[in-house]
Amino acid sequence: MSGLTEEQINKFRSEGLLVVPGFLSQDEVTAIKSACTQLVQEMDPQKHRGIFSTTNHQQASDTYFLESGDKIRYFFEAEAFDREGNLVMDKFSALNKMGHSLHTLQDDFRRISFSDKVQAIARSLEMKEPAIVQGMYIFKQPGVGGKVTPHQDATFLYNDPQSLVGFWFPIDDATLKNGCLWYVPGSHKSEVTRRFVRLQGGEKLLEFRGEDPVFPDSEWISAPVNKGDLVLIHGKVFHKSERNASSLPRHAYTFHTIEMEGCTYSQENWLLPPEGKELPRLYSQ
Ligand code: FE2
Repeated sequence: MSGLTEEQINKFRSEGLLVVPGFLSQDEVTAIKSACTQLVQEMDPQKHRGIFSTTNHQQASDTYFLESGDKIRYFFEAEAFDREGNLVMDKFSALNKMGHSLHTLQDDFRRISFSDKVQAIARSLEMKEPAIVQGMYIFKQPGVGGKVTPHQDATFLYNDPQSLVGFWFPIDDATLKNGCLWYVPGSHKSEVTRRFVRLQGGEKLLEFRGEDPVFPDSEWISAPVNKGDLVLIHGKVFHKSERNASSLPRHAYTFHTIEMEGCTYSQENWLLPPEGKELPRLYSQ
């Protein structure tokens, strides 16, 4: 397996985001989409009422979310339910995401996540003992999928020294119309100024600490990609996406790698392995 070229590695290091064209075969893209369809078909929305919104963080007090790190759980758009809690649209349209352990619990997602070619990318980036966390599928459905506000992924999965890398696989073409990624090149050279931490002993289970800088519009660059491409996202690069105002879906599968050698994973992170278990290592599969 080839991994990244020197030019690609340099671009990732200087910009904090890299598009690797044609990383997945069309068969792999189809397999992921079919696996997603099957999971949703089998899901009873009345049993999975976690509502996910990055705008108002309604999930912050939600144990459903906190316990999802080693499960497959379903998170709906804020507008999916009426005041009485009834679903007001079909369940496919209503979903924001599902996760956060698709990479260990579903065969098609696991095969791609731990594939030789993903391992080769990690080795190109000189990861010694990476673990995979937070395997999730993002729906961003037409007309419903909300915007994701600017953030660094390391806000949510903090480690020291910072080693987080996101692997983001578009399962549909991601365009300016359906809410592709945007990022600020070079912003990964800044510090992590906002943290999302779990709290102990109180009614409130999670909170944000600190504030993010605000970047002017002129510094943001769009990253439209085709299904099957791979986008590598540095843990500290600021990125965002707009709402999907088009008539086409913008599905994506994503997981994160973190270095376990010489690096401390914060015990304040929302996602912790269950008592007595370890995070799954990328190279051991
Ligand atoms: Fe992100």
